[in-house]
Amino acid sequence: MDIKKEAFGKTADGQAVDLYTLTNANGLVVKVTNFGAIVTELWVPNRNGNLGDVVQGYDTLDGYVQDKAYFGSIVGRVGNRIAKGKFTLDGKEYTLAKNEKGIGHLHGGNVGFNKVVWGASEVRKADAVGVKLTYLSKDGEEGYPGNFNCTVIYTLTNNDELRIDYEATTDKPTVHNVTHHGYFNLAGHGESDILSHEIMIDADNITPVDVDLIPTGKLMPVAGTPFDFTKPAAIGARIGADDEQMKFGGGYDHNWALNNTDGSFAKVASLYESGSGRVMDVYTTEPGLQFYSGNFLDGTNIGKGGKVYEHRYALCLETQHFPDSANQPTFPPIVLRPGETYKSTTSFKFSTK
Ligand code: GLA
Repeated sequence: MDIKKEAFGKTADGQAVDLYTLTNANGLVVKVTNFGAIVTELWVPNRNGNLGDVVQGYDTLDGYVQDKAYFGSIVGRVGNRIAKGKFTLDGKEYTLAKNEKGIGHLHGGNVGFNKVVWGASEVRKADAVGVKLTYLSKDGEEGYPGNFNCTVIYTLTNNDELRIDYEATTDKPTVHNVTHHGYFNLAGHGESDILSHEIMIDADNITPVDVDLIPTGKLMPVAGTPFDFTKPAAIGARIGADDEQMKFGGGYDHNWALNNTDGSFAKVASLYESGSGRVMDVYTTEPGLQFYSGNFLDGTNIGKGGKVYEHRYALCLETQHFPDSANQPTFPPIVLRPGETYKSTTSFKFSTK
C-alpha cells in the first residue's frame, strides 16, 4: 500500500492544491485532489487483471476549475435540487442561488463544495490508505445558515473498495445533503456509452419529478415501468421508452427511494459491464440513490488524455437523501442541529466476473 502526494497546481486566488495517489495491496489506484474533494482517477482491473481508469475527469486542475458537470467531486452543502432556491427552517425562510436555469438551486449553488479547496491529511490503516478532507462552510455561504464543518474521508481498502465516510457538525440549525458525484464507465472512461452496462437497484420506488426535475413529493412504484431495476437490466433497454418521467429526465436522472431505510450499511446497487467483466457494487447508509445516465454529456467536455465525453458516456450513482427534502415534509429529514454529529458511509466495491 502506498500514498504519494504531489502538487496539482494553484487556484486563481493562489491556493496550492495537491494530488494524492492511493495504491492498495492489489494494485488498484485512486487519485484524489483537495480541490473540490475530487476523485480524478480510479484504476481497477478487468477480468484479465488489466487496470483501466473507470471515471471521467480532466488532466489538469484548470479542467476542474472550469468544469460545470461536477466530475468526480463532492457536492454540497445540499447536493441535488432545492425547488425555487428556497426553504423554511424553524419558521425562517432562506434564499439560495438559483444556479439552474435561473429557476432552482442545484448542487450547493454558484460556488459549491466542488469548487473550494479542502484541508487534507493522509490516512494509513492496517488494511487501507486514504485522504481525510475537511471544509468549513461559513455561516451564510451560498445562503445556508450555520458554520458547517464537513469531513470526507476517502479510503482505498485492500478489499478493493473506494470507501467514503462523511461527518458533519453545525453551530446553527441547517440543511445538508453532501454526496460524491463520480462519473463511472466500467469499460474505461471515454471508451463508449454506458447503455450496455447492466444495473440493479434495490428500490421499489422512485421519487417522480416534474419537468424541472423537482420531486412531486410522492413515491412512484417502479414495478411495470422502465425504472424497475430490482432485477439487473441493461441501462439502454428501456431508456427510449415513451414514458413521461423518462422524458422529464432526458433519460434516467431520478432518485430511487432505496428499500434499505433504517440507516444500516447495505448493498443497494450493482453495476456490471460484460466487455471488461468489471463489477461495481454500491453500499450505503443513505436512503436514496440518484441514478443519472449522463444525459447532459454532449461531447463538449474534453477529458483525460483528450477523450471526448459524448452523450451518456458515463453514469452517476449519487447516494443521498432525497432531492428537495428541505421542502418536502414526508421525505427523510436533512436538518442538522448544533450538538448533533451527522455520519454517513458509502462504498464502491470493485470485482470482476
Ligand atoms: C445530477 C443531476 C443532473 C445533472 C448532473 C450534473 O446528477 O441530477 O440533472 O445536473 O448532476 O450535470
